[in-house]
Amino acid sequence: MRIVVSGASGFFGRAVTDLLLRHPVQPELILTSRTPEKIADQGAAVRRGDFDDRAGSAEAFAGGDVLLLISGVKVGHRVEQHRNAIEAAKTAGVRRIVYTSFIGTTADNTASVSREHFETEEILKASGLDWTILRNGFYAESMLDASVPIAVRTGRWVSAGGDGTVSFVDRADCVSCAVEVLTAPGHENRTYEINSGDLLSFRDVAALVSDVAGTPVEFVDVTDEGLYEHFGRLGIPREALAEFDVDGYRFCSDDMVSFERAMRHGHFAVPTSDVEHLIGRPPRRLPELVRSRRAELRALVAPPEFDPLSDAALRDPACMFATALNDRPVFWSEAIGAWIVTRYDDVHRYLNELDVFRAPVHDAFTVPEKFADRFPSELMNYLLPAMDPPEHTAPRRAIQSWFRRPRILELQDRIATAAHELIDGYAEAGEVDLMATYCYPLTLNTLLGMLGLPDTDAKVIHDLGEAAIRILEAVKVPLAEPELSQVWEDYLAGQEYIRTVVDERIANPGDDIISFMATATDDDGNPVLTRERVALHVAELAFAGHDTTAQLIANMVQHLSSHPAQLAKARRDPDLWPNVTEETLRRRPSATFTARAAARDVTVGGVTIRAGELAWFALTGASNDPHHYDTPARFDIDRPHPADHLAFGRGPHACPGAPLSRAQATVAARVLFERLTDLRVVTDLPLDFAPLVILPKRNSMRVAWSAH
Ligand code: HEM
Repeated sequence: MRIVVSGASGFFGRAVTDLLLRHPVQPELILTSRTPEKIADQGAAVRRGDFDDRAGSAEAFAGGDVLLLISGVKVGHRVEQHRNAIEAAKTAGVRRIVYTSFIGTTADNTASVSREHFETEEILKASGLDWTILRNGFYAESMLDASVPIAVRTGRWVSAGGDGTVSFVDRADCVSCAVEVLTAPGHENRTYEINSGDLLSFRDVAALVSDVAGTPVEFVDVTDEGLYEHFGRLGIPREALAEFDVDGYRFCSDDMVSFERAMRHGHFAVPTSDVEHLIGRPPRRLPELVRSRRAELRALVAPPEFDPLSDAALRDPACMFATALNDRPVFWSEAIGAWIVTRYDDVHRYLNELDVFRAPVHDAFTVPEKFADRFPSELMNYLLPAMDPPEHTAPRRAIQSWFRRPRILELQDRIATAAHELIDGYAEAGEVDLMATYCYPLTLNTLLGMLGLPDTDAKVIHDLGEAAIRILEAVKVPLAEPELSQVWEDYLAGQEYIRTVVDERIANPGDDIISFMATATDDDGNPVLTRERVALHVAELAFAGHDTTAQLIANMVQHLSSHPAQLAKARRDPDLWPNVTEETLRRRPSATFTARAAARDVTVGGVTIRAGELAWFALTGASNDPHHYDTPARFDIDRPHPADHLAFGRGPHACPGAPLSRAQATVAARVLFERLTDLRVVTDLPLDFAPLVILPKRNSMRVAWSAH
């Protein structure tokens, strides 16, 4: 049997050819196309054929037994084209034509598309040839490619279809059915309904898309004239024009409005499907097809500037939230795998409502096999951010109660002394990397003071904190060997050392935070934490208390360096230094996000977040929300409520180290600018950040001053 495939270079023609070439009956193929050069080298005869040229088509079809007549795309000219093709097939000696028609093709259906298909079907039936008509449903792909993205982006599905319905179809199912009727006997002079069997209105589709995209898509019911206006605004002409040809298809609103009118009048509500009968499996249905595009649909509403590792975002993370804060306060990030919640009011509210958003489950951490006996993986579930009350309450209290004012004041003196000593080391140099020579050593020194450890332990604590970050990052981008083993070795060696310190402190407690945790007891006098858990928390503090504050100090220097008037003000009135700290925390929180998981389905900012889905609360978005602050982009140390920001989070997980970091950063910045009076950031260097999404972490920051 020789099968002729017309329109073989189009999507449908290619897909059919592909299946036929692999078909067990191995039919001989003749492929015809207006652009034969596009389908050379397929292992089949290729001929030039154009429906506008009857004689040429007859030559192209010559020798064929069955013709697959794929309906043309030249809206308004199709009946003539199809008539030419049918006549050409007769001339060429073809015995049967398989025609791709459309759902709801009846004499009284006035949709332009249906008129053309109806007339073609009539010509075909009167041709004297055998025929098989495949009335394909509404291609789900066409709708997902064309209408759905507009609806998701604009949040509106404008339709004149009312509650009229149509049955959609997966184009791949149409292709399989076409191949079946082309290759198997017994399909002569029959009409088949090729659709999913589901009847859906565009209102149903809008709801489905809204659910999958996770963003509201309102169904806007309009008249035919309203739909013409809508298409007019999208730049679509009323009539089919050669110059408005998209991939060969001439979009025009006459076509689409007449379709929706007929839909409203019930002409496409065909409840039968022959797909399973033809190909032996049920058709794919629209909900499944829409869900298969979830990532793509959700990406449509992510603001284009949302790229946490772009240079623009590293320079100023707040810029990532500008559009979101105005238009779509909650959106999905496929890269992160979480909803991003940006507005102050939402972040402020939900960080405090643990019955709605809980600590995320940390089962993503996997301890490499060879370290399993040194570190049971369940230990990770005891990190403070991984627990919620009641488990969270006692360890959290043990840690937080250490951060009392007298201790902070005592540490403040230690910080000032250390700051002076560090600057003494390079005051004459005129230029240094501030991260390596000030921000990091200073915060590390404070950590040692807090833990009651000698300076000689600096490397252990530094490596422990670094390893903790690397392990956290590895949840997203897995580490390869030998790095993986090295990181875990550092993490475990540090904790094993701390476990020995815990034993000493239990025997001989001091006023440091390790002693505090090691000796903390519950109401019944039982210890709150095992030695392993104390060591785990030390690793947590080594990470949470080190980079965050070092970045805060760097951010203060950055902002003061570019706002000399504000710096002059703080110099004149030293009581304003705490405001510099707060305003820096507001304008650029060290941690851009904090993570939670939805405890139940909840609608936030118009978006439904499902139970179990991750939500990242954008502390930087919230702290720069124009609905909450006047001119949020301005760095202004005179704001009336300087500490009104969310840089430390909020609620039961709010940062326990906040009092220490506030004190530390304030002293660090004040001493630095007192000592190196005209210190400024060297700006013409490339950015140097570690690729961390939660905590944009400067590796280096060059600063210069006039050395005396
Ligand atoms: C500028 C400095 C700092 C910033 C911006 C910062 C920020 C944060 C944020 C945003 C959270 C999560 C809050 C939430 O999810 O609601 C957090 C938690 C935490 N921070 Fe900080 N932090 C800083 C310094 C410190 C310091 C100095 C320490 C201790 C030495 C520390 C220890 C912790 C701990 C243990 C948690 C977990 C609390 C919990 O889940 O209950 N942080 N921090």
